[in-house]
Amino acid sequence: MEATNPDTKHNELEKQKWCIRESLYEFHGFWFTKTYLEATKEVVETFKPLPTDIILASFPKTGTTWLKALLYSITHRSSPQDDAVLTLNHPQELIPSLETNLYVRKQAPLNDDAAKQGRILATHAPHQILQHLLNSCDCKIVYVTRNPKDTLVSLWHFLQKSKDFEDDPWELEAAVDQFCDGVVPFGPYYDHVLGYREVSINMPQKVLFVTYEELKEDTRSHVRRIGEFLGCPFVGENGEEQVEKIVRLCSFEILSNQEVNKSSELPESGFPLPYNSFFRRGEVGDHLSCLGDDMIRKIDHVTKLKFHASGFHYGI
Ligand code: A3P
Repeated sequence: MEATNPDTKHNELEKQKWCIRESLYEFHGFWFTKTYLEATKEVVETFKPLPTDIILASFPKTGTTWLKALLYSITHRSSPQDDAVLTLNHPQELIPSLETNLYVRKQAPLNDDAAKQGRILATHAPHQILQHLLNSCDCKIVYVTRNPKDTLVSLWHFLQKSKDFEDDPWELEAAVDQFCDGVVPFGPYYDHVLGYREVSINMPQKVLFVTYEELKEDTRSHVRRIGEFLGCPFVGENGEEQVEKIVRLCSFEILSNQEVNKSSELPESGFPLPYNSFFRRGEVGDHLSCLGDDMIRKIDHVTKLKFHASGFHYGI
């Protein structure tokens, strides 16, 4: 990519003021911060998925960290030394994010042959933007989504941890409006979800669509379902035991209480946020603790228009 000043470079893109001193830029119908816009463009231009890749795709705050822990545990369950991995490493570091780790932080070069074996890579980029890449090979995609109101509330709390939040806050009312208008990072949330959902319906062997709520309700069944989808089903005498162990080690209670995940300091690894930022309450329906009736009505209205009208009866 050319090394020009991003402000000059994105002049032609539609731009909207957001919060924490950030603006969002529209790119192919979706909104990005400047950093993620650069990273996403670089992913689109240079990333070459392999048929052996597992891609974890998600809109932010929908359970990505949980799925990172689960996918890692499901695919590495045969080696006993991997038992300790989740106690020593934050899930965000175990499974690199295409945008953050590989392109913003320039970690783990993608052309390193060793790193290419059995890769699990995460992305927040919408399917609409990545489709030509993802369709170019037989890689598998696991997509996780979450109720829109809980997603927004989780995002709102997450941003309060930003050092710039006090100077340029995101008032909850403005957050609801912007979420409904789709003007949030990687938004519109609804288009993001529908994009991956559609491929999961048309190509169920390629995309597994999971919701945070169903995962919470019956983690065991979904761990088995993910194992089968990835071609590593839980079978034999040990199967049930392995499922139990994975569910327990990746549960909010256990994971959020690991020393490494409790840290409120900026990690030495260069990861840009304290590791505890990714664990808050981990509950279904937490929006009820802070969204007023009008806010709920507003989001539910958009949910009906976007999801229900397209046959996806989810999110209310
Ligand atoms: P809350 O803010 O509602 O608590 P992401 O990983 O996509 O950033 O999503 C973060 C959300 O997932 C946060 O939600 C966080 O608490 C929750 N979370 C993290 N680990 C979890 C786990 N093991 N089980 C359930 N929820 C988890």
